[in-house]
Amino acid sequence: MKKALITGISGQDGSYLTEFLLKKGYEVHGIVRRSSTVVRSRLDFISPEVNRQNLFLHYGDLSDGSSLFKLVNRIKPDEVYNLGAQSHVRISFDIPLYTADVDGLGTLRLLDAIRDSHSQAKFYQASSSEMFGLVQTTPQNESTPFHPRSPYACAKVFAHYQTINYRESHGLFACCGILFNHESPRRGENFVTRKICKGVAEIKSGKRQKITLGNLDARRDWGYAPEYVEAMWLMLQQQTADDYVIATGETHSVKEFVEAAFAYVGLNWQEHVEFDQKYTRPAEVDLLQGDYSKAKQKLGWEPKVKFKDLLAIMMEAELTGEPVSRL
Ligand code: NAP
Ligand code: GDD
Repeated sequence: MKKALITGISGQDGSYLTEFLLKKGYEVHGIVRRSSTVVRSRLDFISPEVNRQNLFLHYGDLSDGSSLFKLVNRIKPDEVYNLGAQSHVRISFDIPLYTADVDGLGTLRLLDAIRDSHSQAKFYQASSSEMFGLVQTTPQNESTPFHPRSPYACAKVFAHYQTINYRESHGLFACCGILFNHESPRRGENFVTRKICKGVAEIKSGKRQKITLGNLDARRDWGYAPEYVEAMWLMLQQQTADDYVIATGETHSVKEFVEAAFAYVGLNWQEHVEFDQKYTRPAEVDLLQGDYSKAKQKLGWEPKVKFKDLLAIMMEAELTGEPVSRL
């Protein structure tokens, strides 16, 4: 039985990856942070068909190198997925040092824990399309230069190059997945797609009248999270370690998402959307559109769920109250 260790197991991607690996027969170990209330709601959504007896949670933190070292040593994982992060871009402007510590140095601590414990574990790093920032070419692929525009993106660039450096200097089987935005009913409520879908469902049911948003002109390449976690796993099953862009190849504005979500329930968005400066960022990433041809060619990976289907999955989950996965 293969063993996987996941940081960020309680997050959107962590919960889908856990479900995916348990279905494949893995023993899954996850690192969780101590908090005053024990909330693991995303792990509660895991399909009842999956054998939860092979799931183990351990306290640890990316800011605590000693906990990482001990866990890698004790568990002896075959694969390590580093998904843990302060992942909110706008909030990274409020807490830049914390974000750099967890997302940047945290990755280095984990890489060093693997190296120090002489582990042969394969390593996956959750890199981000935010690293392209002020984009130099469109669409963006593995060769597109980075121009990060937030403390979050700067930390992710640091972690990305540390991962490549451990591969090149110390021979770690380490891969970076440069994932474009991916969403689901399990998305955090303060990311724009989930915020819109939840708000629209509440307006439709009469619970509220308005939602307040920031920049509607930004364009994103939005995919479906359960498909993206499969790409993470595929990267670690190859003969050689490499880096891959994972995306849909489509780009849509926030305004298009808003219009489509309100139209889904037969409402006119202009009557229900307000602007608030507080949801804008000091520097914005205006346009993201990924070129996933390398992943298609080498991993045989392709997205099936695109903009319209993604919106329908998320709206249905909000309207019915069922945070279902469709894989
Ligand atoms: P998410 O839902 O925000 O989950 C983040 C996870 O990291 C949570 O489990 C969180 O734990 C954990 N975490 C936060 N601080 C930590 C710390 N100090 N030590 C250990 N764990 C910590 O994020 P996601 O959407 O699943 O994304 C997964 C990863 O992919 C992140 O690294 C993100 O930056 C990256 N990424 C995401 C996207 C996307 O569109 N979703 C695209 C590209 C890259 P709590 O539950 O305790 O908060
Ligand atoms: N969150 C949020 N809230 N974003 C808003 C709002 C709002 O009220 N109004 C407009 N937006 C715009 C943001 O300015 C941004 O241009 C876009 O909606 C998407 O914002 P988010 O959903 O917060 O995602 P993100 O693109 O900043 O970051 C996500 O994707 C990255 C990959 O490109 C996160 O998941 C990152 O962790 C990930 O790396």
